Amino acid sequence: MLSHEIKNPLVSIGGFANRLKKKLSSNSPYMPYVDQIVKEVSRLEDIMRGIVSFSNNKFVEFSREDINSIVEEALFVFSDVLRRQGIKIDMNLDKKPAFVMGDRQQLKIAFDNLIVNAIQSMAKGGTLYITTYSTDEWNVVEVSDTGGGIDPQVIGNIFNPFFTTKEHGTGLGLAITYTIIKRHKGVIDVTNNIGVGVTFSVKLPHASRGPRGVKLSG
Ligand SMILES: Nc1ncnc2c1ncn2[C@@H]1O[C@H](COP(=O)(O)OP(=O)(O)OP(=O)(O)O)[C@@H](O)[C@H]1O
Ligand SMILES: [Mg+2]
Repeated sequence: MLSHEIKNPLVSIGGFANRLKKKLSSNSPYMPYVDQIVKEVSRLEDIMRGIVSFSNNKFVEFSREDINSIVEEALFVFSDVLRRQGIKIDMNLDKKPAFVMGDRQQLKIAFDNLIVNAIQSMAKGGTLYITTYSTDEWNVVEVSDTGGGIDPQVIGNIFNPFFTTKEHGTGLGLAITYTIIKRHKGVIDVTNNIGVGVTFSVKLPHASRGPRGVKLSG
């Protein structure tokens, strides 16, 4: 409801700003103001989209899923972008299926966000490493990049909603990933190699020990 109430005025602000923009000549002194309104409205729309996907995710449908196939599916979506950006893929998936009790769509979103961040950190190319393995306790998925790592001064904030260092970021990606992994009784660790890259390790319980048929609400 809240997002609906915010979206309507946003659409009208954006629409009228665009009409104003068309009326102005490109060298008008007011152009930068109108441009800024258009840009900020589109940023707000991105934020609203993030919030909507966040709250739609409250309902979790757990089924038995092979984490390797989810990771493969997530990566497939980005194959074009990876090629275009000159990013090599180094994928090392566990030979055995690694079963978790999880919501496939949500887990895919969680990994998408990690992969997108990795891609964005390697604007000039690099290597994306995707590794899965299992320990006694966990099914582990590691997403690593060679994008230079995270400034130690901000690393404490990266999971906070709306924290971003990107011009067009909403800062919701990692907050959503964190929430999804928590809902699956998992953990997420970050290893920051300054000047080299970052490794995000997602650890999810084995299916046999995970929650069964749990539906979360609230
Ligand atoms: N792989 C990475 N390499 C370097 N910095 C990263 C990486 N992943 C996350 N970060 C840092 O963490 C911040 C928060 O990430 P998050 O995904 O939550 O938001 P975002 O990427 O900025 O915006 P959005 O995900 O909405 O597009 C980023 O702005 C960036 O500073
Ligand atoms: Mg992101």
